[in-house]
Amino acid sequence: MSSTANSSPLTSPNRHKIVVCTDLGPALPLLTERHDIDVFLVQFAWMLQNVVGASGLVVCFQDIVDREVVDAAGPNLRVVSTISVGYEHITLEVMADHGIQVGYTPDILTDAVADSAVMLALMASRRAGQSYTFVKDNQWPTFHWTPFAFCGSQISTTSFSPTRTVGFLGFGRIAHAVLQRLSAFGITHCIYTPRPGAPDQAARDENLRSHLNLVSVAQVDLQTLARKSDVLFLLAPGGEATRHLIDEAFLRLMRPTSVLVNNGRGSVVDSTALAKALKEGWIWGAGLDVVDEEPQVGPEHPLVKEPKCVVLPHIGSAALETREEMARLTARNVLAGVLGERLPVGLDY
Ligand code: DGY
Repeated sequence: MSSTANSSPLTSPNRHKIVVCTDLGPALPLLTERHDIDVFLVQFAWMLQNVVGASGLVVCFQDIVDREVVDAAGPNLRVVSTISVGYEHITLEVMADHGIQVGYTPDILTDAVADSAVMLALMASRRAGQSYTFVKDNQWPTFHWTPFAFCGSQISTTSFSPTRTVGFLGFGRIAHAVLQRLSAFGITHCIYTPRPGAPDQAARDENLRSHLNLVSVAQVDLQTLARKSDVLFLLAPGGEATRHLIDEAFLRLMRPTSVLVNNGRGSVVDSTALAKALKEGWIWGAGLDVVDEEPQVGPEHPLVKEPKCVVLPHIGSAALETREEMARLTARNVLAGVLGERLPVGLDY
């Protein structure tokens, strides 16, 4: 294994060079213990200076892999392996042009992200962020308990409030796992907006409905999604097609008791519009694991300043078991790619 800063490393003849720009934790020995591979641990900022001659790259979702990187690597490059389910940071047309395989880590993180989405929904609806700050700021000692202080909006159904509609923008594996968890809260209706051109899924929806004991599961348009969701989960991929889909017009249609949760990509939400929606009470609260401006999200960010907004630093899949498994799959993907084999989990494009 080599660790380089900014010089172009030379690899021995007949050995594959893999440039690793992220922390693979306990999975790194899967690469470093092989005698046919040289591993270079490089910060992504130094990628261009170090990538020449590489057969494989290991990156995370913040690392942009585009034509410049591929050109700098040269003709040996066979595989890019990302430790993420999202892959919009990799320019697929360029990969296809050069016959480069792309590995990623779907499925493994579904449960961890679904758990954190439910956590954010509960935190945002029950004002957990605001209450926690209250205690941290030492305000509890002078507080006289009153029945309506810190009241939030309730996610579970009750005999006196018997229906709840959960909405999804992006209705894939993670959304289904969230819905499954929320069925235990007595959610009655599920609505979702499919991606444009997606096939009709009436049979699957009926299956979900009966399996989870819901009243209905239905496709709706964006306006209906905004109007009817009590809790709205954003789990759509990023990229130009979804950029700022949640804008001022959308947020103005939502209910003052509704909660918005974003565990997908920050770019889907216009942060300025959301901060205004929270300030002016168009919606009840927001739970965000991702923010458009991340990682430049400090205490002065308008969403961090909103008391009814809970912001987490993109930790949706950060459960140790899950991240270790993601790292193992990422290592196995890059290894298969450099050896010219089919990736265990690769993109079809
Ligand atoms: C992903 O996998 O795309 C996440 O955003 C990071 O876990």
